[in-house]
Parts: sequence; C-alpha cells; structure tokens
Amino acid sequence: MDGDKKLTKEAVLEALRQVHDPDLGRDIVSLGFVSLEDIALCGDQVKVSITLTTPACPVREEMRRQAQEAILALPGVASVEVEMKANVRPTGFRGPRPVAGVRNLIAVASNKGGVGKSTVAVNLALALRNYGARVGLLDADLTGPNVPTMLGLPPGFQADKGLSIVERYGLRAVSLGFLLPPGTAVIWRGPLIGTGIRQLLHDIPWGEEGELDYLVVDLPPGTSDASMSLAQDATVTGVVIVTTPNAVSVEDALKAVSFFEKLHVPILGAIENMSY
Ligand SMILES: Nc1ncnc2c1ncn2[C@@H]1O[C@H](COP(=O)(O)OP(=O)(O)O)[C@@H](O)[C@H]1O
Ligand SMILES: [Mg+2]
Repeated sequence: MDGDKKLTKEAVLEALRQVHDPDLGRDIVSLGFVSLEDIALCGDQVKVSITLTTPACPVREEMRRQAQEAILALPGVASVEVEMKANVRPTGFRGPRPVAGVRNLIAVASNKGGVGKSTVAVNLALALRNYGARVGLLDADLTGPNVPTMLGLPPGFQADKGLSIVERYGLRAVSLGFLLPPGTAVIWRGPLIGTGIRQLLHDIPWGEEGELDYLVVDLPPGTSDASMSLAQDATVTGVVIVTTPNAVSVEDALKAVSFFEKLHVPILGAIENMSY
C-alpha cells in the first residue's frame, strides 16, 4: 500500500462521484446508484456493485470502465471489480386497468344528446339487477348528470356530505348530480373531465374483489373527453350505442361506432330507441 492513508469505503465512494450518468446529467452517487453498502474492501482489492435503473442502459459498460479507472487511481488499490446491476423501478401505471370490484364495465354511448342514453343506461342496470346480477351505475355525464332524477333522487342531496355511493332500487349509483343543487352548471374543460372520470372509476369503492357483476356507465353525448378517458383509463367490456330511427341520429351513431373501434372498445350492439 503506498502512502500512509488507509483505503476506506468513503474514499471509494468519493471517487465514484466522478462517474456521471450522461442521460441524467448527475453523478452515480448522488443518483443513488451506489452507496457505502455496495462497496467491499479486502486488502488492496475493491469490489463495488452499481445498480442502474435499467439493464438496457446504453452507457453501462462505459460507466463500469469509468468507475474502475476512478477507483484504480486511488492510492492503495491493486484491483477493482465492478458489478453492474439493475433494479427497474415501476412507474405510475398509465393505461386501461380494471375498475376494482367490477367484473364487467358496460358503457352506454351515442353521438347525440336526447336519444335516450341515460334512459337506456338506467333501465339496462335495473334489468340486469332484476335478473339477479349485482350492478353499479356510474353517471359519467359530469356536466349534465340526469341519473339522480331518473332514480328519483333529489339533485344535490349529498351537497353537504360529499359524494358517495347510493343504494337505490338495488343498484349502487354514483352521480356528480348528487352533489350539485338543481340548475347548477359544471363548466369543466377536457383535462378536468378526464380527471373526474378517472376518480369516479378508480376512487369510488365500487365493491370488494369481483363483487359487482356489471358497472353500467352513462356517457355524455358525443365522442367526448369523457368517452376518451373511459376507454383510456378503464378496461371496458363493451359499449352499447343508442340511436333513434332518425337518419341524422343514425349517421352520428355510426361515428360513435368508429370512434370506439379506434379506441379498441368492443361494440356490444346498438339500440334503436324511440322507434315508434
Ligand atoms: N323510448 C322512449 N320513449 C319516450 N321517451 C323517451 C324514450 N327514451 C328516452 N325518452 C325521454 O327522452 C328524453 C331524453 O332521454 P335521455 O335518456 O335523457 O337521453 P340522453 O341521455 O341521450 O341525452 C328524456 O326525457 C327521456 O325520458
Ligand atoms: Mg344523458
């Protein structure tokens, strides 16, 4: 050993500060890729393990070489062994995921307002319930919620208590209309609608594991932010398109079909409402 300074782990760690991750622009010690516990000394031999965030790091060998050089330059070091490891950190999940507690999510949509989406959604939920299924109903029409009135609940009745699931006619129902007094408008831009939909899907305790057979989602008209968010944030079993016999309504329904096909949401079928 030359010099009279004893080789320490601290000195090795300090030397490793010369090694930078070119992508992150910082040294591997401050990035937490290596710490004192990763350094072993045995006489004049040094062993270090460096843990990257991905085994596919393109500069991995370059970093190993730099680390070896930096440590070999320390007085009292005869040999260096650098092990490159990787611990891939999970990122926050993005993309469609199942709604907890829900076995099947059925969306009710159309490109038009007033064709009977909400009517169909409520009656579909009640019909499934009457067959003995366990059913939830989510009003995803955040700016024009009609589910409270259709379930015979006074709009805004949860204004003081905060939004929660209401059991009504055997359904578990949630609507922003439970919070808003009648006639109150919610004016939200797209991103906020997306956040709102995500929270209603994933922050509402719809049920224990597999408890709800169906969650019926009443969408607002149009190929809107709400429909897009639903398809992007939740695993949708399929969508029911509602139309009327009116040629313009059918034209719009076909647009809705193409929209959901693009989002890879299966089309369960179409309902021609008001066909008398
Ligand atoms: N088959 C039907 N027969 C008669 N009235 C209907 C029928 N379907 C819906 N309605 C009525 O039409 C109006 C619009 O229906 P709604 O379900 O709110 O449509 P959307 O949700 O598509 O805007 C409501 O007043 C509803 O009661
Ligand atoms: Mg509606």
